[in-house]
Amino acid sequence: MKSKHFVSIATTPLEDVLEIFDTTERQKRTLATDGLLGPIAYGKTLGMLFEKPSLRTRVSFEVAMTQLGGRSIFLGQNEVQLGGREAMCDFGRVLSRYVDIIMARVFKHHHVEELAANSRVPVINGLSDYSHPCQALADLWTVKERYGKWEGLKMTFVGDGNNVARSLGFLCARLGMKFALAGPSGYGFDDAYLKTLDTCVDNSNFSLEVGSDPKKLLKGADVVYTDVWASMGQEAEKEARKKVFLPYQVNNALLKSAKPGALVLHCLPAHRGEEIADAVMDGPQAGMYDQAENRLHTERALITLLLKK
Ligand code: CP
Ligand code: NVA
Repeated sequence: MKSKHFVSIATTPLEDVLEIFDTTERQKRTLATDGLLGPIAYGKTLGMLFEKPSLRTRVSFEVAMTQLGGRSIFLGQNEVQLGGREAMCDFGRVLSRYVDIIMARVFKHHHVEELAANSRVPVINGLSDYSHPCQALADLWTVKERYGKWEGLKMTFVGDGNNVARSLGFLCARLGMKFALAGPSGYGFDDAYLKTLDTCVDNSNFSLEVGSDPKKLLKGADVVYTDVWASMGQEAEKEARKKVFLPYQVNNALLKSAKPGALVLHCLPAHRGEEIADAVMDGPQAGMYDQAENRLHTERALITLLLKK
């Protein structure tokens, strides 16, 4: 893997992404047949920083380290206090003298960038207000397992053009999957994002559609994706957003606009009855539980490759 850190898909070249997926596939097979991987991270420690709550990210990273023979340390909001208790540069310089690899979930994206800039060891973005690259890895791997390819497929993201949607857009651009964003106007991608997205297009099969008509944008979709309408940190906007996003609920009626049997993904946690209906979460097209499991497999591969640096 060429990159030292994993902060955004936009700064992770295609060859690194493909290496992560190769390792994912190999380790997943080995675990299924042998039940154990080698002591790849024996004696190594992952430092995990959380400014926000988590189930999947915390547990998948911690279990990944266990499966690789290493340990992890959880640092919650009290210990972290990013940019409050001490300067970010000092935080990164000191923490990276103790641990071998760092994963950080932060409010402000520039904090994870500053951490990486001041760290001696690899830094992984475990979600920021801007992006969620580990999520996109698990999601596109889930698509590959289901369809055997990315090229020629279309993903329609129904909802907010948020951190998850941005990372998915970047990764679809690298891998050649068509990406559509269907959401209310004013909640789509900004110009700065679109400019960065341009730099990620590694495959001519990629295309981007953005609009506010979910039925139109779902046409031909092999994958239907949704996420919460108000992300962590946007709690004050929750009620106002509920009204604006109501026509964007992924339910069985809306799903009819996608290809029959389209895979439905959600990064989780889901707000059942808001952005997604119970019938879809519990229905035959639901792929979000395989997707959640793949967080573990893709992150374990990422840690393996970054620890080799
Ligand atoms: N999808 C995801 O990142 O879940 P958590 O917030 O539970 O970590
Ligand atoms: N967009 C959501 C994703 C949670 C995994 C958030 O940032 O809260």
